[in-house]
Amino acid sequence: MITKRPRRNRYNEVIRSMVQETALELNDFIFPLFIIEGQNQKVEVGSMPGINRYSVDTLLDEVASCVDLGIKAFAPFPSIPENLKDKYAKESANPEGLFPRAIREIKKNFPDVVLMTDVAMDPYSSDGHDGIVINGEIVNDETLEVLGNMALTQAQAGADIVGPSDMMDGRVGHIRRVLDENGFHKVGIMSYTAKYASAFYGPFRDALDSAPKMGDKKTYQMNPANSREALIEAALDTEEGADYLMVKPALAYLDIIKLLRDNSHLPIAAYNVSGEYAMVKAAGLKGWIDGEKAMLESLLSIKRAGADIILSYFAKDFAKYLQK
Ligand code: PBG
Repeated sequence: MITKRPRRNRYNEVIRSMVQETALELNDFIFPLFIIEGQNQKVEVGSMPGINRYSVDTLLDEVASCVDLGIKAFAPFPSIPENLKDKYAKESANPEGLFPRAIREIKKNFPDVVLMTDVAMDPYSSDGHDGIVINGEIVNDETLEVLGNMALTQAQAGADIVGPSDMMDGRVGHIRRVLDENGFHKVGIMSYTAKYASAFYGPFRDALDSAPKMGDKKTYQMNPANSREALIEAALDTEEGADYLMVKPALAYLDIIKLLRDNSHLPIAAYNVSGEYAMVKAAGLKGWIDGEKAMLESLLSIKRAGADIILSYFAKDFAKYLQK
């Protein structure tokens, strides 16, 4: 005789929803946006069906349509023309550059949205690296100065949260100091705490044309084999003043999300990266999987693992799904 029957709690839709432990909400999401120079531009990223690169004018229309759907937080990324890139990413501190202009325009037209801006050299670097390259080495401490100036430029343009994504040592503390010294104590820091050297960033680097010109990012981004190291990074970021800890990518690193959730009181974010989006989209478009169901299941797994905040290219698809 079987008396213990877990299936009772799955018996019908109402019961299933009563015992459901995790649910996604639109408030959980930050939607990444790609920005390009020019006017009236909307160019699809080949490896990310449904995701476009926008010039500032069309970007405002895109933000408007997202806001109508209930999306309130965005993570914009600029695609910098090749002729403005150099070894020191100087363009990243130009207040009239593409990125600060775009930030100002978004905040002017949509004062209530939250903008989290990426702080890393790669979109501006002629080497395609997140740090200054000297004799083939990505140097740390010299890079911090660039990152501090970049974060300050973004804060002055209206960023609410800055997201250092470069994995240099000491960057969170340095950026916190620079922001505070300049009166930006209200600007938060979402640290890319455990960012792994991953193959899943490929489509993003297509979108921004930001792939490393030589070598790889293994001397700064983390080895996918390691989890204890994520705790070292989390402890340092916390001590240095991070307001949020992020794990990236998300789906191949759900255990790391859970690990940080269980070991920190800070909000945990997870970045469902470009390659993760591309895989689900491509298979869905081919009819090999049900793309919408696979999207919902992947996003739910990130939340279940312990993420409070999900950065995802699926945010708009998810918002549309909720309206159905
Ligand atoms: C820049 C940066 C990258 C991503 C976010 N910020 C690329 C990289 O580190 O090479 C990847 C995001 C994605 O793949 O969606 N440092």
